[in-house]
Amino acid sequence: MAIRHFLDLDAIAPEELKAILADAHALKKQKFNPPQIFDGLSLAMVFDKKSTRTRMSFEIAMKQLGGHTLVMGMDELQISGAESVADTANVVSRYVDAAMIRMSDHDLLCEFASECSIPVINGMTDESHPCQIMADMLTIEEKLGSAKDKKIAWFGDWNNVSATFAQAAPIFGFNLVLSLPNDLKPKTLGANVTYEEDAMLAAKDADVIVTDTWVSMGQEGKGINKFRPYSVTPALMAQAEEHAIFMHCMPVHENEEVSPEVLASPANVIYDEAENRLHAQKAILAWCLKDAGVSVS
Ligand code: CP
Ligand code: NVA
Repeated sequence: MAIRHFLDLDAIAPEELKAILADAHALKKQKFNPPQIFDGLSLAMVFDKKSTRTRMSFEIAMKQLGGHTLVMGMDELQISGAESVADTANVVSRYVDAAMIRMSDHDLLCEFASECSIPVINGMTDESHPCQIMADMLTIEEKLGSAKDKKIAWFGDWNNVSATFAQAAPIFGFNLVLSLPNDLKPKTLGANVTYEEDAMLAAKDADVIVTDTWVSMGQEGKGINKFRPYSVTPALMAQAEEHAIFMHCMPVHENEEVSPEVLASPANVIYDEAENRLHAQKAILAWCLKDAGVSVS
């Protein structure tokens, strides 16, 4: 039986992802009376980078639904010294029911998962951030109804978050416009993804305006001047639909990728988006733990 790893959106059947989102809506409705579906189950979390939202939302998600958590920094594990990936994966699999890992090296995460006999969740690598995009889909469905046929315009860097939005576009049926410096344009644009170098044109009639830091963790010291035309300003928001929302996975860098006026405007939904990490995570965990007997409904 295939292990229910949550490593990349395009590795999971679209109907499964849509069912996870439906469960996330249902679990959010039970925010104040959470079903104890993780009773007796444990999640290990390992981080090689900082985190506020991923760390807190996974821990609270697990505990609110009756489970246990264990959190470690990557440098605290023997794997950071001499122990092999295979031995670490085998041992972790004997202690806990699932593992959530934030690891820069995507290939190493996949190698670790392939050695595990428990589900492994990608808590963000340098290549993708699938848990974030599930929370973003939940937020878009709440604010705008279905994401299908919506125009989502992304501004700034080509990074782990934008790459995962590109994976999500054909799955959830939205149209993604990438507005980035030309040298960052990806070599291949997948289904439902287009490129527009001019930020004002990219924002035109968009339902969602989304951005992220210009300097992802691990890229400190990189120049940011080429990103300035892609800053989300009131002028850029004015190109979008009247109902358009502003999204950002956070942490936010005011006066860089977004101006304070946009953050102060009613279009800003970033705190709802951050809260939705919690509800999306509950549903992702429930999907991963299905073979351990977990069911949401
Ligand atoms: N959006 C997000 O993943 O935030 P953290 O880095 O704080 O986990
Ligand atoms: N692109 C950012 C996302 C942080 C949640 C980073 O990798 O640092």
